[in-house]
Amino acid sequence: MAKERLSVVVTRRLPEAVEARLSELFDTTLRENDTPMTREELSKAMKSADVLVPTITDQIDAAMIAQAGDRLKLIANYGAGVDNIDVATARQRGVLVSNTPGVLTDDTADMTMGLILAVTRRMPEGLAVMQSGTWDGWAPTALLGGRIGGRRLGILGMGRIGQAVARRAAAFGMQVHYHNRRRLRTETEESLQATYWDSLDQMVARMDVLSINCPSTPSTFHLMNARRLKLMKPDAVLVNTSRGEVVDENALTRMLRAGDIAGAGLDVYENGTNINPRLRELPNVVLLPHMGSATLESRLEMGEKVIINIKTFDDGHRPPDQVVPSML
Ligand code: 8YV
Repeated sequence: MAKERLSVVVTRRLPEAVEARLSELFDTTLRENDTPMTREELSKAMKSADVLVPTITDQIDAAMIAQAGDRLKLIANYGAGVDNIDVATARQRGVLVSNTPGVLTDDTADMTMGLILAVTRRMPEGLAVMQSGTWDGWAPTALLGGRIGGRRLGILGMGRIGQAVARRAAAFGMQVHYHNRRRLRTETEESLQATYWDSLDQMVARMDVLSINCPSTPSTFHLMNARRLKLMKPDAVLVNTSRGEVVDENALTRMLRAGDIAGAGLDVYENGTNINPRLRELPNVVLLPHMGSATLESRLEMGEKVIINIKTFDDGHRPPDQVVPSML
């Protein structure tokens, strides 16, 4: 007798090819409109599904997991970061969690370099001049930025993405420094030409550019708090392509307004779409709407990872990208 197909609920629209393959393999319920699910919709999905495929826009907290149906066995997150999921509570309930690491590393690192260049070379100000039609030609002193070659880049969080940023930054002639929970192996450090700082405070105080690349966990919440932000040099720039919660957004905004640091490039925000409105008024700030992994290639490969995780689970094996609390 044919095995009953797993029931899979996907919370957001995914690239067509991913949705098509999910529907071929499983009894898949796709999202019709591309809005985040309400808590009621999410709760209903978690009651009926064997597998949930959520994204960062779904808060799967302890209460949500507590009311899940007995059928729910796997939360196959479409995304690398799992800060939207209470992994420990899921584990206690016997629900596995998987993610999509690796496939969005390069695109996110590219975007980090893009933000570093956009801020230091004042690209949005140039764009504004062109879009307003007020450009009256080249001038020797117009819109002068700073050269990134030779500057010190401090990477906070030297995992896959941090290391990919380090490789790119070195190619741009930057001096790479990093702080991480665990120091990298000597060979890795040498191949990245990266200098390790045990003290985050000391690193922050000496960098020209600080890039946030650590995940959001209880221990990284506001790692860049007001006190630490104040250690930054007044001509330094902060770039965040990781998670908004790592930086105290209000403290950062105050410093930018006061000219206590030179600029910021942000792809992520502390309270989702509810961004400090003052950030939008600043010329030395480049804001992007969480686009770090927004390439078709990344999004297809993230889908492929989700499918492999579900299929492997369905075949009775451990999903290759299973996330357990000790990894966080
Ligand atoms: C994803 C991300 O697009 O994968 C991550 O952790 O931050 C993003 O680039 C998003 O999380 C999808 O859920």
